[in-house]
Amino acid sequence: KKPAGAPESWLARPVTKVGVVGAGLMASQLALLFLRRLEVPVVISDLDEERVAKGIGYVHAELDKLLAKKRIKPDQVNRYRALLSGTTEHADYADCDFVIEAVFEELAVKKEVFASLEKHVSPECVLATNTSSLSVTQMAADLEHPERVIGFHFFNPVAVLPLLEVIRGTATDDETAATALGVAKSLKKNAVLVQDAPAFVVNRLLIRTTAVITKAVDDGTPIEVADAALRPLGLPMPPFVLLQLVGPAVALHVTETLHAAFGDRYPVSANLEALVAAKKPGVYDLTPEGKPYVSDETRAL
Ligand code: 3HC
Repeated sequence: KKPAGAPESWLARPVTKVGVVGAGLMASQLALLFLRRLEVPVVISDLDEERVAKGIGYVHAELDKLLAKKRIKPDQVNRYRALLSGTTEHADYADCDFVIEAVFEELAVKKEVFASLEKHVSPECVLATNTSSLSVTQMAADLEHPERVIGFHFFNPVAVLPLLEVIRGTATDDETAATALGVAKSLKKNAVLVQDAPAFVVNRLLIRTTAVITKAVDDGTPIEVADAALRPLGLPMPPFVLLQLVGPAVALHVTETLHAAFGDRYPVSANLEALVAAKKPGVYDLTPEGKPYVSDETRAL
């Protein structure tokens, strides 16, 4: 079914090669999804060879798991492996029709990536962003072709969660939106067209919850108590396990965007700030007071 407000699907341009910029948590999941659903060549890049190899390693390992579960056949594994290539050069995106970025969640970084890509790709190539909260309109503003930029916001784990927020910036044209929605359909995602507002729709709710709960824990409520108190809501994961899944740095960035837009309705947790400032990889690491931010009990839930 066509999402409400969607342009005519015949405006969509064909997508025969896909680029993924970034090879981190979301980017490598995206590369796998595009390979499996579109079955076209996928190029993945990052700042250095090591990160690219890690992203490709993730895709290979996930393909092996799918093979072990008999979800895919050996010839598919070989085909998908052959369709995937890695690079550190944006020039290798030259013949892509659709490039999605999932790099560091900062406007200046994302703008730089798009400006660099624009030097290499055709004017019709869609530039999509997997941003969690940043303005798609601002991201496109200084480009030569802002009409080809669109938000394509996936949810973690990408392979499992069916929702995809598609965000039109003020300059996004119908051809770009139709192409992106065509891609969403091929990916078998439920696309919803949402406004370009801080954190769009889903994270505006999710981060409101996360922000309030992390603040309650900062104020002294033990994590187990907070998680147990929220259990009757029937959430698929306890809030702190979800925070780990999303990643503390991403959660903090989205909270900061919302805090800037809406003030104290989105409080910023001091513990979360400290954790990210200390470059700790996850909420299981220690708080400045030396306590685990998420206990083993919560982790096991
Ligand atoms: N990657 C790939 N597949 C995964 C996975 C992962 N990280 N986690 C789980 N799966 C798969 C499992 O392999 C399993 O597949 P199978 O049926 O083929 O064996 C399937 O998902 C179900 O897994 P389980 O039975 O182990 O687990 P659950 O039934 O508990 O479901 C869950 C797992 C779907 C992750 C569920 O806990 C859930 O929905 N959690 C909430 C996730 C959520 O809210 N995500 C949104 C985060 S917000 C976001 O990403 C936006 C960003 O901008 C911040």
